[in-house]
Amino acid sequence: MIVVVFISVFAIVYYINFRRSRKRLYELADRIPGPFDYPLIGSILLTLGKDPLELVSYLMQLMHRLPSPMRAWLGPFLLVVVDRPEMVQDILSSPDCVQKPFMYDFFRISKGLFGAPADTWKRHRKLLNTSFSPAVLKSVVPKLNAKAEQFAHELNEYAGGDCFDVHVLLARYTLVTISSTTLGTDLSVEKRAVLEEYSSNAIRLFTACFERIYKAWLHPEFIYRLTPAYKEEQHRMQLFKQMSRKIINMRHAAAAENKAKDDPQDSEPEDKQELPKAKIFIERLEEISRDPNNNIDEDGFQQHIDTMMFGGNDTSAQALSNTLLTLGMYPDWQERVYQEIMEVVPTGHISYEDLTKLTCMEMFLKETLRLLPITGLIARAPVKEVQAREFTIPSGAIVLIPFLKIHRDKTIWGPDAEVFNPENFLPERCAERHPYAFIPFSQGPRNCIGMKYGWISMKILLCHVVRMYRIATDIRLPDIQLSLSLVMKLNKKHLIRLEPRIDVR
Ligand code: HEM
Repeated sequence: MIVVVFISVFAIVYYINFRRSRKRLYELADRIPGPFDYPLIGSILLTLGKDPLELVSYLMQLMHRLPSPMRAWLGPFLLVVVDRPEMVQDILSSPDCVQKPFMYDFFRISKGLFGAPADTWKRHRKLLNTSFSPAVLKSVVPKLNAKAEQFAHELNEYAGGDCFDVHVLLARYTLVTISSTTLGTDLSVEKRAVLEEYSSNAIRLFTACFERIYKAWLHPEFIYRLTPAYKEEQHRMQLFKQMSRKIINMRHAAAAENKAKDDPQDSEPEDKQELPKAKIFIERLEEISRDPNNNIDEDGFQQHIDTMMFGGNDTSAQALSNTLLTLGMYPDWQERVYQEIMEVVPTGHISYEDLTKLTCMEMFLKETLRLLPITGLIARAPVKEVQAREFTIPSGAIVLIPFLKIHRDKTIWGPDAEVFNPENFLPERCAERHPYAFIPFSQGPRNCIGMKYGWISMKILLCHVVRMYRIATDIRLPDIQLSLSLVMKLNKKHLIRLEPRIDVR
């Protein structure tokens, strides 16, 4: 009896102190509208028992009905959903909003750029930004062209035949191009099955990590570790890391070979040596990790590589697969994209300069990314109070920015917001809209480091494929439902058919 009384008193005192220490958080939270909180658990019940597909349509319905911005409680955590473009700009451009909330730790790559805490991230991002500079991007264009050309020829196997799932092929393709152009390693020497297994394992691994976010009861690490989900995660993580380990070993072997070949008598006199070349991501990473001040240990080095592969592989594969699907759904637009390619670059490799001339293709890609975004929502943890228009967002809150909702908001895109229309991206229409109304790569200092690379690589691939084939599909846009995950998935496979435009034998 005494023990029970003691524990109860202790719990009450603890709770009162806890509330008192967060007085300002509650004060500011109360000024943000948000209708559905229960004591202690807040809005946790909202996500209970919903699978990722149901969750998207449910949250979309809620967000369209409820006020903006909106607050909700996930147990003790204050969530603030911000979806007005001008408020999103205030958040994403604030230097006090580059910290990611604790959920990003669930992906277990907190030493890489994607999940790193703000102080480490600031230092590393500044040092690594140069590996996506225009000089580096320009230098990888020939390689991207060669890979895309080869891929387009490989598709000939499917031309004139039945529907096939193009995502499987593109996941392998983007893995090979990312590792070749940013990690300096040619994975095309690996067997097809190995690469496909790697991609599908990575998708399952990070989908499971994402699901943990809305299953709040799995948040405490000590509880999570007791579940079968943790065991499976560890198994998948081990498999996932085998590839970055292989890449590191291949780099070491190549470096040792070069050193052995390096005969000082053969080297050029200093004044005849080439100018320093633009360093791709791995070269820059190797360089900065030699400086002990940058605090990149062996594990951190590998996590940077894992991050690049996870950031660049499935995102690009999904965006390209979605675009081939939409090209198949809208043949008139496909023809316009094709005619533009024939005007700009009817044969051969496309140059860095010519890429900017593919404006119709860019509008088409943007419309696909608007309605089928790759990232459904992102989150930030302000480290100080941040003013977002008339609202003060407290430090300690978790700000959620739902791209999915912003991209379909009728107040931004008009009554036909759900209709596929690349003319939404005509220059005059873009000029009328807030620049933060469409941000598929996020914005501000912590946006996607691979954004420009992504545009270039997608345009080059599309150029080679659309030039060679007519694409068709039986799937229609209204048939598609998105499921909430780190990379948003469709409820359908990317089933397309190809007809050759030219004799590709
Ligand atoms: C269509 C393709 C892509 C889309 C839609 C996309 C989208 C995004 C978004 C929305 C973020 C911000 C995530 C957040 O704040 O939670 C992000 C971050 C990131 N992306 Fe991408 N991405 C794409 C391609 C790429 C590529 C090709 C690479 C690598 C070459 C890449 C590497 C990264 C990295 C490393 C981060 C973390 C950046 C940081 O925190 O500093 N992404 N991406």
